[in-house]
Amino acid sequence: MGFHLLWVGFFLCCEFWVLSLSDDQDGFLSLSCGATTTFTDSSNILWIPDVDYISSGNTSIIENGKGGSFSSDHVRFFPDPQARNCYKLPLKNSSSSVLIRAKFVYKNYDKVEKPPAFFVSLGTAITSIVNLTFHDPWTEEFVWPVNKETASFCLHSIPQGGSPLISSIELRPLPQGAYEDDGLLQSQALRKSYRINCGYTSGSLRYPIDPYDRIWGADRNFKPFHVSSGFKVEANFDVIEVKEAPPAAVVETARVLTRRKELSYNLPLGKEEGDYYVILYFGGILAVHPSFDVLINGRVIESNYTFEKGEIRALYIIQHQIKNLIITLKSVKFYSQINAIEVYQIVHLPLEASSTTVSALEVINQSIGLNLEWEDDPCSPKTWDHVGCEGNLVTSLDLSNINLRTISPTFGDILDLKILDLHNTSLSGEIQNLGSLTHLENLNLSFNKLTSFGSDLKNLSNLKFLDLQNNSLQGIVPDGLGELEDLQLLNLENNRLEGTLPLSLNKGSLEIRTIGNPCLSFSTMTCNDVSSNNNNPAIETPQVTIVPEKKKKKEEEMSSDHNNNYHLPIIIIIVSALAAALLVLITLSLSLLLYLRNIHSQQHTTSQRLTYSTKAAMELRNWNSAKVFSYKEVKSATNNFKEVIGRGSFGSVYLGKLPDGKLVAVKVRFDKTQLGTESFINEVHLLSQIRHQNLVCLEGFCNESKRQILVYEYLPGGSLADHIYGKNRKNVSLSWIRRLKVAVDAAKGLDYLHNGSEPRIIHRDVKCSNILLDMEMNAKVCDFGLSKQISHPDATHVTTVVKGTAGYLDPEYYSTQQLTEKSDVYSFGVVLLELICGREPLSRTGTPDSFNLVLWAKPYLQAGAFEIVDENLRGSFDVESMKKAALVAIRCVDRDASQRPNIGQVLADLKQAYDAQFAYLSTFDH
Ligand SMILES: *[C@@H]1O[C@H](CO)[C@@H](O)[C@H](O)[C@H]1NC(C)=O
Ligand SMILES: *[C@@H]1O[C@H](CO)[C@@H](O)[C@H](O)[C@H]1NC(C)=O
Ligand SMILES: *[C@@H]1O[C@H](CO)[C@@H](O)[C@H](O)[C@H]1NC(C)=O
Ligand SMILES: *[C@@H]1O[C@H](CO)[C@@H](O)[C@H](O)[C@H]1NC(C)=O
Ligand SMILES: *[C@@H]1O[C@H](CO)[C@@H](O)[C@H](O)[C@H]1NC(C)=O
Ligand SMILES: *[C@@H]1O[C@H](CO)[C@@H](O)[C@H](O)[C@H]1NC(C)=O
Ligand SMILES: *[C@@H]1O[C@H](CO)[C@@H](O)[C@H](O)[C@H]1NC(C)=O
Repeated sequence: MGFHLLWVGFFLCCEFWVLSLSDDQDGFLSLSCGATTTFTDSSNILWIPDVDYISSGNTSIIENGKGGSFSSDHVRFFPDPQARNCYKLPLKNSSSSVLIRAKFVYKNYDKVEKPPAFFVSLGTAITSIVNLTFHDPWTEEFVWPVNKETASFCLHSIPQGGSPLISSIELRPLPQGAYEDDGLLQSQALRKSYRINCGYTSGSLRYPIDPYDRIWGADRNFKPFHVSSGFKVEANFDVIEVKEAPPAAVVETARVLTRRKELSYNLPLGKEEGDYYVILYFGGILAVHPSFDVLINGRVIESNYTFEKGEIRALYIIQHQIKNLIITLKSVKFYSQINAIEVYQIVHLPLEASSTTVSALEVINQSIGLNLEWEDDPCSPKTWDHVGCEGNLVTSLDLSNINLRTISPTFGDILDLKILDLHNTSLSGEIQNLGSLTHLENLNLSFNKLTSFGSDLKNLSNLKFLDLQNNSLQGIVPDGLGELEDLQLLNLENNRLEGTLPLSLNKGSLEIRTIGNPCLSFSTMTCNDVSSNNNNPAIETPQVTIVPEKKKKKEEEMSSDHNNNYHLPIIIIIVSALAAALLVLITLSLSLLLYLRNIHSQQHTTSQRLTYSTKAAMELRNWNSAKVFSYKEVKSATNNFKEVIGRGSFGSVYLGKLPDGKLVAVKVRFDKTQLGTESFINEVHLLSQIRHQNLVCLEGFCNESKRQILVYEYLPGGSLADHIYGKNRKNVSLSWIRRLKVAVDAAKGLDYLHNGSEPRIIHRDVKCSNILLDMEMNAKVCDFGLSKQISHPDATHVTTVVKGTAGYLDPEYYSTQQLTEKSDVYSFGVVLLELICGREPLSRTGTPDSFNLVLWAKPYLQAGAFEIVDENLRGSFDVESMKKAALVAIRCVDRDASQRPNIGQVLADLKQAYDAQFAYLSTFDH
């Protein structure tokens, strides 16, 4: 059944009458568009100019409008079709919905006699087309659910439609619960089609008769039965219960028909089918009992319907996909009667884009400084420039030809992206921060200055088109690209790549373009030939295009038909055989060479390949307790780099064992943007001076033949990330007191970096996986240093390459590129939120609004709503302790860095939270 039915009953009384006449304009907002002065109209409503609510458009006076109402004497029009023409309407009362009425009057104000047509939108929804040729004036009215503080009411021009215009906007708060029958207004709004005061023909009734200023239109072309006021009403009714009931003056009149006759309203709705909400009001104003069937579009909704004297009832009906409405009342016995009708079109509101996506786009907008007109929702009612959407998901972003310089971690927050076009955006360095964009299908990074592939690309498992042409990519093409099963096009043209292409790319219908590289192909031989015979490889290197499906077919055909002449495959086979032989030869001679060199190098000192000055510098330095390791020592300690225990920001981490039995974590840097030897040694020297119980200790390092290796103490307890949500999440989760202990430890470590060490050091990558635990669950911070220190106190560090991890990155640092200790405080705040909520900073579970931990948790914790606390902690924490920790976490993630506490204050607060929990637990012991 396409309808839905309810009834409400209450009795009219003098109290209600008094209330409807009360002069209470609380919350009314009446804007006279284009007006310059305020005005009070005959209903005692105050009209004000609209300038404070909109910034675009021109104003004009309507001469023909004189004599009409004040609000129709002026008009605001919008000649610029590109401009954003939006009113920001304040929606103050979140507990109720609001009635919004907009009036559009053309009346040839511009003397061109061309009434415009245009779209209007409210919030995320395009609600209607206003066509002033069809009707002048035109009124739109909505019942709008309030779930934000403001709603955008916008006018959008249509091609050749003329300049959109508007005369007035009225905002009227509705009582709590009005029209919200069964959650109707949760994701939909109502657009008024009809509001009829049945049986009344002397004009319309509105405020102050209707306290909510609904306009009850007169009944037309039907002989009404008019019931005058003054009939006796029964006592005891509750006005609050029937929020949207019409005022008594409207209920007092009705259309009534004597028995055995049909009473009907035929209401055309629109050219297109839509969903409609129909409310029929009935009031027991006669001495006789009515009794009738109610039919909508010929179908019986209620049979033998009746109501008592002094009672008001309403029927609520939802009709799907109709364009005409016929309401018929058929007398059963006595009379049929109806007092008022409301008909609304149901406006389905598009979902808003997730707050994570919106905040990421805002951060990007701010950092680019383009002043894009990015306001409200990125997808609805119109998509933002540079952005593409599917539903409420932002699926494409095109920032090409904009000077970005680096792919910031914020890009990693736009999780639904399928297309990302960053060609010609001055990107340099490594391809980074895209690893989380697993829906990406088309990635265009062409025409930049990228030098290294990075490690993210292999995670983009849906990638179909990868355009890296015209960059400065060096070295060999990484094997990981072969893991991209759907890849159809890999454009590597005009880079500085060399060597053989990984065989893993030799598959599928993958097209690889390689023109313009010094030497790049699947076979080593082609390479040698080309480079020796050709001085201009950029033009002459043949393009490699592999379409194995066809090749396979040919091979099959060949085996089935030996008589045919297939030169090409045979040649390929011969060439491959030759190449293989050559490869074996080269490998053999290379290994021999390496073997000889190895023997040779054993007779020399470990730093043999360093220049003498750096070697001397290394020997002269005081390395504290840090050791200088030879590559050979590192190799044997790690058992030839056998066991990977982690992947850091610049390479893999291996487990190692020193000759004295001590376990170490060995970090091998293979960053292409590696530090020069001198800076590496300078920085390692600084690190070797840092000793603190809450910082992971540097045991030594190795710097040989471009290898930069750091050897750290090994912490067997794993990382904090493992403990709170990682794969190795222990069966017994960390208790609140332990979490506080970890937080206090880590804050101590950071405090030392910020305030205790000289020079001061900003960590730049504080996150749960960089907080490690020892056997006794003491926490130590790792991965600090290396190009992160500041040499002058109070200096801020302006960096061009923003480093950090998606979800932890300080939005202010990203947008201003001013690096201060407060960026670490922000990231540490995210760690605290993780400890409290037991979840990752970014996750795709739950509703879109919960994807981003900071945005999601903040309002809850601010309100002291601890239902979001990790369920493993429920019932075992002291509320004061939690409050303290939650408060400091929220202050740490303040968008405004100057509002964040420094790490010393954070540490003090965490100690208090720890003490409170400790005291709380002690009460159980006694
Ligand atoms: C609208 O106003 C702008 C600036 O105030 C002016 O340049 C423009 O000519 C006006 N347009 C019309 C159609 O009046
Ligand atoms: C506006 O209404 C007129 C008259 O009904 C019609 O001719 C015209 O096509 C309409 N314009 C639009 C854009 O719908
Ligand atoms: C907000 O709504 C509440 C409940 O409906 C009501 O008591 C209050 O007066 C309203 N405030 C305004 C400003 O409309
Ligand atoms: C209609 O309802 C009234 C009272 O509710 C009852 O007396 C009467 O018999 C009903 N008539 C029919 C035709 O069902
Ligand atoms: C976009 O950035 C500009 C400053 O460059 C700012 O004025 C504007 O408010 C930003 N828009 C959004 C949606 O953040
Ligand atoms: C690259 O972008 C710059 C603006 O950043 C623009 O001036 C230039 O024309 C663009 N180059 C190409 C080839 O599109
Ligand atoms: C990437 O952008 C360049 C420059 O506009 C264009 O020529 C190329 O076709 C794009 N690549 C893909 C795969 O769309």
